[in-house]
Amino acid sequence: MAAARMGYRTHVFTDHPHTPAGEVAVEVTVASFSDRVALERFADAVQVITYEFENVPLAAARVVAERVAVRPDPNVLAIAQDRLAEKDFLSRAALAVAPYQGIETPEELSRAVEVGFPAVLKTRREGYDGKGQVRVETERDLPNAWQRLGTVPSVLERWIDFEREISVIIARSEDGEEAAYEPTENQHADGILRASIVPALISPATADAAVSAARKVVRELQCAGVLAVEMFVLADGSVVVNEIAPRPHNSGHWTIDAAETSQFEQQVRVCCGLPLGSVNRLHDAVMRNLIGADVDTWNRYLGDGRDRLHLYGKKVSRPGRKMGHVTRLFPFGSNPRAFGGDAGA
Ligand SMILES: Nc1ncnc2c1ncn2[C@@H]1O[C@H](COP(=O)(O)OP(=O)(O)O)[C@@H](O)[C@H]1O
Ligand SMILES: [Mg+2]
Repeated sequence: MAAARMGYRTHVFTDHPHTPAGEVAVEVTVASFSDRVALERFADAVQVITYEFENVPLAAARVVAERVAVRPDPNVLAIAQDRLAEKDFLSRAALAVAPYQGIETPEELSRAVEVGFPAVLKTRREGYDGKGQVRVETERDLPNAWQRLGTVPSVLERWIDFEREISVIIARSEDGEEAAYEPTENQHADGILRASIVPALISPATADAAVSAARKVVRELQCAGVLAVEMFVLADGSVVVNEIAPRPHNSGHWTIDAAETSQFEQQVRVCCGLPLGSVNRLHDAVMRNLIGADVDTWNRYLGDGRDRLHLYGKKVSRPGRKMGHVTRLFPFGSNPRAFGGDAGA
């Protein structure tokens, strides 16, 4: 939709017959990500390709990257798809992360206990919205937890006793121009983002540390595109990086209605080689996700002029599925936190 507003025509490649993006695109290809012919035909039909989520099979991204510009580069996907590679990358970049250990074999279970408890065990691949992870209270519970995840390659990480969660959405262009939005405060329940609030309740020093961490991530990755860095803020105000997502991110959806340029427009600008837009914020804002049955309350958001309702048009609602969101706008300096509501704000 951001591309269309700027006069660009989009072509969506998807392996699902009904995909929300496909319904607002000019062309849609429905094919398997392993269908090389379909991928090549798609690549030849477009001028630049980007992703909507980071679990696009790497091999598919590499096939199209042989024929057309892909932003960000598939090498960025390779890191973001694998929690162990991601943690190793962050550590090498000297960014603080939770103590962690990779687990692939039963022998590695005993070594992993060094991270300390409570901890959380996460599958290395394909986790999102809290899926593919279990909390582990003590060393004794670890073998069981690994069984529950199907003994697939995983990462054990120490549970961080954070004061709050924040994220920084940053855009970086092909030639290295950067634009970082101010940190967003995020409230999760059961591993799923419920609400994002701007401004975040953090000190200027914490905000600086968070933005510096995000800049470091995109520079080290040489990432062209929009990228989100999720972080934990500790009681002393320092930040620990949780994970990265090389794409427009749910915690940046407030930028659609409350910033001078949305994160989606930034992605279009990077893809099309345009200068980045202003990241200035126009309002205080709270973005609330409509998850599963929440979407049935959508008409509650039609009568209040402060609310901006977004429904994704997904055909089926399931518990835990993100069906839409609503951003409520507030004047600067008002206290928007109360609208966090169910999220426990
Ligand atoms: N090490 C941790 N310590 C404390 N909370 C955590 C930790 N790891 C994950 N969480 C909680 O679970 C949420 C989802 O985990 P995350 O690693 O971001 O996976 P996903 O890919 O599902 O978003 C986090 O936003 C946070 O609330
Ligand atoms: Mg996350």
